[in-house]
Amino acid sequence: MQEIGTVVSTETGPSSQEFWFVINDNKGVPVRKGQFVQIDSHDGLLVARVEEIIKTNRYYTRPESVSEFEKSGRPLIEQFPVDRWEYLVAQAHPLGVLSSNRQKRVTFPISPSSKVYAVDEKILNNFLGLDEVNGLSIGRIEFHNVDAKLNLTRLFQKHLAILAISGAGKSYTVSVLIEELLNKDRNSRPSIILIDPHGEYGGFEKDEGYRKSTKIYDGKDISIATHSLSPYEMSALMPKMSPVQRREIAPVMKNLKAAKPAYDMEDLITAVQDSSIKDATKSAMLSWMHELNQTGLFSNRDYPTIKDLAFQGNLSILDLSDIVDKKRKQIIVSYFARELFDARRGKKISPFVLFVEEAHQFAPEGEDYEHALSRGIIEQIAREGRKFNACLALITQRPAGLSTTALSQCNTHMIMRVTNPYDIDHIKESSEGVTGGILDSIPGLKVGEVYIVGEAVNYPILINVRERQSKSVEKSVRLEDDIKNFNNAKISDKDLETFM
Ligand SMILES: Nc1ncnc2c1ncn2[C@@H]1O[C@H](COP(=O)(O)OP(=O)(O)OP(=O)(O)O)[C@@H](O)[C@H]1O
Ligand SMILES: [Mg+2]
Repeated sequence: MQEIGTVVSTETGPSSQEFWFVINDNKGVPVRKGQFVQIDSHDGLLVARVEEIIKTNRYYTRPESVSEFEKSGRPLIEQFPVDRWEYLVAQAHPLGVLSSNRQKRVTFPISPSSKVYAVDEKILNNFLGLDEVNGLSIGRIEFHNVDAKLNLTRLFQKHLAILAISGAGKSYTVSVLIEELLNKDRNSRPSIILIDPHGEYGGFEKDEGYRKSTKIYDGKDISIATHSLSPYEMSALMPKMSPVQRREIAPVMKNLKAAKPAYDMEDLITAVQDSSIKDATKSAMLSWMHELNQTGLFSNRDYPTIKDLAFQGNLSILDLSDIVDKKRKQIIVSYFARELFDARRGKKISPFVLFVEEAHQFAPEGEDYEHALSRGIIEQIAREGRKFNACLALITQRPAGLSTTALSQCNTHMIMRVTNPYDIDHIKESSEGVTGGILDSIPGLKVGEVYIVGEAVNYPILINVRERQSKSVEKSVRLEDDIKNFNNAKISDKDLETFM
């Protein structure tokens, strides 16, 4: 074991919450903020995290003396071996005690004079609750030679949120997570469904290793079987519909189903037209239904079918990059998320993980219902999904714009760089494990650095995301390159004239 320091006595400690240790500089072992250390304590093996490191030198504590010496033309350091008196002191926060392989809270301070050691990697694995054998290996714990192998159940069962500003590496991390899921034996992986609003995940289908397990559904081919919608679901798509109107459309749908089991939206429009519903009500309903029909989404069959979408062990990507209209995207997410959840409740499909990129677009906070058609089902899966192993991974660059109900049900948070103070406040409120030290360092994180907080780990950890194996599809082009590309492409004056 590498000894790195000795606990010292201060005015406030050691306490059960905090202690300080002086670092034995002669051992040459670097100690860094965020690193884990261990100490033999009265109650068992105590594991602590270094919260801060301070340099002290008693010769430099009095400004007037330092100033006088410096003015004399012979700096202090030339007159005395003052650098010998520079010490590194670390402040550490005890996390827990391991005693006969059980973890306990720290209820008693350690003694000054206790020796502080670099943490043993096996102990750290166990202490953090990592799954060394079957865990998803998404990166390394900073300062330690330990793979952050996250347990599948702990990570997904109570939902995951991935939060960071644009460009911090959310989609990259999601790709690594999906690789890890797909690298597992087919029988032990869930089905993976990914809502991809920017068409960024096409690489999985191009990659030799993942092609067989990946299917991409193009937004323009997606269709919804009108006859499979219940009156409730139908009214959810027409938010202005009143409960009375819903009651009136129900028998029309029922009769139509008896006459034509696989009806489409046009059939339903005709049926409403021919029904005995009062004229005023009818015309409002018809105008909403025409609007729905114009999305081109409602036919007489589902594409993809739920069985294909949730094919066990497969990755299904709904590529919505060609769809501009937000409402259309919300209808797709709302319909397929509900079908997935209902099928899972009825045990008709395997447990699944539904990754939702740009989650704030699909479950926005504070928008009225008409502009948030998919929020209800996302919130419902967030609240009830764990009982059925219907798991959510919500990804967003605007945590403050994401439904608080949904976010607060995500018990694991992966947090990368976030700079907006509102977003940081929102994270603070919705993420129990985020302490002051972590909050302070979130704006300074580099690409690829991720805090994992919550259910998946016993204590927050900072990891460096590993390199991805699958092919990446870079959607953003550097501004300078884009200007060059544009100028190099031949645009004739005639084309330009036509355009003007
Ligand atoms: N761990 C990493 N290692 C190496 N490169 C990375 C890593 N994470 C991200 N990158 C690179 O950083 C860039 C931005 O990453 P990414 O697209 O994942 O960001 P994002 O958070 O999803 O952004 P947006 O919100 O705009 O979708 C990409 O070029 C990606 O390849
Ligand atoms: Mg992204």
